[in-house]
Amino acid sequence: MISQQQIDEIIEKNDIGEVIGEYVKLERKGSGYSGLCPFHNEKTPSFSVHEGKQIFKCFGCGKGGNVVNFIMLAENLNYPEALEFLAKRAGIRLERAVSREQEERSRLRNDIYSVNRVAARFFYETLKHAPSAQKYLYDRGLRAETVKQFGLGFAPDSWDALYRHFTQSGAAPDPALLEKAGLITARKDGSGYYDKFRNRIMFPILDVSGNVIAFGGRVLDDSLPKYLNSPETPAYSKGSNLYGLNLAKKSQSERVLIVEGYMDCIALHKAGIGWAVASLGTALTQAQARLLKKYFTEAIIGYDADGAGQKATLRGLDILAQAGFRVRVLSLSEADAGVKDPDEFLRRHSAEDLLKAVDASKSLIEYKIQKISEKYPPSSLESKAMFLRASTKILAGIRGEAERDLYAEWFSGTYRISKDALLAELERLRRGGASSTADMQESRRVIKNIKTRENGNNTEEEDVHSAEKLKLDKLEKTLLLLMSDDSHTMERYYEKVRGLLYCERNKILLERLKNRFDSGGKTGLEAVLSDAADAPEADVRLLTDLIGKWLRPPDPEAACEALIRTCGILNCDRKIACINEMLENAEINEEDRAALVKETAAIIEERKNFKNER
Ligand code: UTP
Ligand code: MN
Repeated sequence: MISQQQIDEIIEKNDIGEVIGEYVKLERKGSGYSGLCPFHNEKTPSFSVHEGKQIFKCFGCGKGGNVVNFIMLAENLNYPEALEFLAKRAGIRLERAVSREQEERSRLRNDIYSVNRVAARFFYETLKHAPSAQKYLYDRGLRAETVKQFGLGFAPDSWDALYRHFTQSGAAPDPALLEKAGLITARKDGSGYYDKFRNRIMFPILDVSGNVIAFGGRVLDDSLPKYLNSPETPAYSKGSNLYGLNLAKKSQSERVLIVEGYMDCIALHKAGIGWAVASLGTALTQAQARLLKKYFTEAIIGYDADGAGQKATLRGLDILAQAGFRVRVLSLSEADAGVKDPDEFLRRHSAEDLLKAVDASKSLIEYKIQKISEKYPPSSLESKAMFLRASTKILAGIRGEAERDLYAEWFSGTYRISKDALLAELERLRRGGASSTADMQESRRVIKNIKTRENGNNTEEEDVHSAEKLKLDKLEKTLLLLMSDDSHTMERYYEKVRGLLYCERNKILLERLKNRFDSGGKTGLEAVLSDAADAPEADVRLLTDLIGKWLRPPDPEAACEALIRTCGILNCDRKIACINEMLENAEINEEDRAALVKETAAIIEERKNFKNER
């Protein structure tokens, strides 16, 4: 852990203009500089650096933050690494408070990388003398070049070939280490060890730095399990890596194709589509989405056409959209109904055909609306009405007006709905979500509103919630920034705001800020941004946007109170929506129901108080 003070010192001694000037050709402009964004391709500069606020912001791709965030992105480092990098640059000696435990873990991780590398080489060499495995790969269309590119190998049909390879080498590693790496398993009777991977085609999994973090091993026939994977180890956690990303990140592509399997990914690369990665059979996680976001801006999901694949697609879509991706869904079965996955497709069709399908892939909105139309086929008037209701909600959720109009055009054409009527309905839905006037009556309307909105399909539900959360998040961050400037405001509102904040990460920021005031440390907007440097990118972005546009209000206290009021009201609405969700549950008993209804009344009262507070 590096102390708050030391972090401030690092930021102070690394002037953002100077640091970024080492990466980007900057030209002076107003109170800062501008230049071509290093994080996306552009010809006219939309990247700007504000000297006074010590922040950068790209209006093209949205990236922004302080000098630490810049180094994290530019050098592809995590937060502590970026701090270390900048400390070194400014000649600051870090009082290393890395715990022994952390140090131990990091050493273990490196040791696992090195035994994995030895194992990968062993499997690779073994393949050269294993005709059965060679034939298998050949029959699946793979040639030496691809085998080499992916470092594919073969674990021989033996109980301890790999283990013996290690023990017979010059510097034999501790068996305990091989066990921790997931390469061998101790025999139950304590008589020794046996290899985990036997008689399998081996797929080494590399991280973006090229470390061999794990393996997947496939049987040569139909026996089960089809694939055996390394267990979770200190070097490998399943949900935070993607197969093939080490190669795909070099493709310079804006888009990434996410598929399910090892072989799909390999077949795509072989066909020249070097921007494919595999999520390895797990549901896509937020960590994976964030990792991908470092390299790509558009994500195309190409999961299997089976039910499980489709479910995984829907979940993955929202995770990717939340991470800021433009998202599309590839449907290969539309091009060839007999095809299950990209590997099979490429066995039957050309790479051009696949690219054509990629270009024709549906946007998130189209895909969701298609799913709804499958759920509510136009067989009856009622079903048609359900379809319309659910899909207009999705259309109303589109942020940009031009984009909304474009989709409205498409929708009215495809489903033969009058565009004017549709636009009017969208307008109504959008207004319904935002405005607020009378108290009790209005709360009822809010409840009803949220209720109707939540009757749609699952994925859309999440969207509604996340839009509400985003709004709250922004208000809360504004509140924090308001309080960051002035100890009086902090003193006065700390307790109240602490009880009010909804977003966990904003609570952490508030505590850090309070700590700065209490210890007489540096405060202000930049302090908040610095405290957030280790937060997810979306937080940093939001804060940077707010700080970039920041104007000090003439009366911070009045501004605080107004914001507290708005946050309070929104929070009440959110609670009411939660209760309603519970009430919808048919299994709830009468007693609980009564209690919930009573609670709703109390919240409506609370909400009224927020409204009346002046
Ligand atoms: P699939 O069953 O779709 O296999 O699993 P595949 O990739 O098409 O494999 P081939 O073409 O038959 O060789 C997709 C992914 O799910 C994981 C693997 O990562 C696989 O690539 N999986 C599947 C496992 O981890 N274990 C299994 O037993 C099966
Ligand atoms: Mn397959």
